[in-house]
Amino acid sequence: MIRSVLRGTGSALPRNCVTNAQLAERVDTSDDWIVERTGIRQRYIAGEGETTSSLAIEAARRALEAAGVEASEIGLIVLATATPDYTFPATATQVQQALGCRGGVAFDVQAVCSGFLYAMATADSLLRTGMAKKALVIGAETFSRILDWDDRTTCVLFGDGAGAVVLEAQDVAEDGPGILATRLHADGEHCDLLHVDGGPSSTGTVGKLRMKGREVFRHAVVNLAEVLREVLADVDMGIQAVDWVVPHQANARILDATARKLGLPAERVVVTVDQHANTSAASVPLALDVATRDGRIKPGDLVMFEAMGGGFTWGASLVRM
Ligand code: UT7
Repeated sequence: MIRSVLRGTGSALPRNCVTNAQLAERVDTSDDWIVERTGIRQRYIAGEGETTSSLAIEAARRALEAAGVEASEIGLIVLATATPDYTFPATATQVQQALGCRGGVAFDVQAVCSGFLYAMATADSLLRTGMAKKALVIGAETFSRILDWDDRTTCVLFGDGAGAVVLEAQDVAEDGPGILATRLHADGEHCDLLHVDGGPSSTGTVGKLRMKGREVFRHAVVNLAEVLREVLADVDMGIQAVDWVVPHQANARILDATARKLGLPAERVVVTVDQHANTSAASVPLALDVATRDGRIKPGDLVMFEAMGGGFTWGASLVRM
């Protein structure tokens, strides 16, 4: 059977690391509050010359190197972002140009924090139709540029970064590697709970992120536990078969609550929220790259990705490495 097989991962972070204590000099907050309520200790913030595309390009180069794949072999680039360099063209085409990939297909998808799951599902579908043989799937964000730095309820929660994977369509055995199952969801009913209050067609400005955190939290735990159960049912497996869960990194308490709901041991959850904060569409591939490079995730492991974000959008995907 033809499956999309994950060949390599890469990631990139801005140079500037900002601690909770540094933020406490700017807004009325404290390291204690941020650590206790979110698990976040620091985040990376893009400086001059660092953009969503520059981070995406760096992450993509590292993923290609890890996969041993040349840029010229890539026929499809799907990039998830809610913070593109420009309204258009798509950031994916900037990556394509910088890497020197000629031809093929390149576009962005926008599902905020679930963006990487949506991008991977899109690439997986296109690879399995034969539209391309090898794809780059990227999540890249510079949320620091849409934060209200006077709003302590949101500005302490986010960071910038990018993560990327190389997928290849391969003919594999039933128990072979690749994406085994994916479920995506959206529910526009709650779009006002997490949104940006501007855009090219409404205000003509970029706008700032606004969030009713407590309500988002409540929906996140319920939706994530449900979608994980759906994916496990699709492959007729229990949670104990999963070696690693690589979740969207929004809040350590959401990770703990979801794991508890599913009976998943905490030591099988990859946690990077303490180091990177919430990097939206970049958070899943960033965490995946960290846990792959430090040797935790190994070939043959069953890895579950999951995310939930503005819209709401949410989803999960089970991959054999
Ligand atoms: O990536 C997309 C998905 N996003 C998420 O999943 C985010 C989900 N939500 C969350 O992670 C949490 O709801 C937050 C971390 C945003 C907030 O934590 P919380 O435990 O839900 O706090 P809260 O909003 O109920 O606020 C508790 C108190 C409030 O003060 P009062 O009204 O009790 O006097 C806030 O004003 O904490 C106050 N507060 C702060 N205090 C110090 C809010 N932000 C801060 C802050 N520093 N940065």
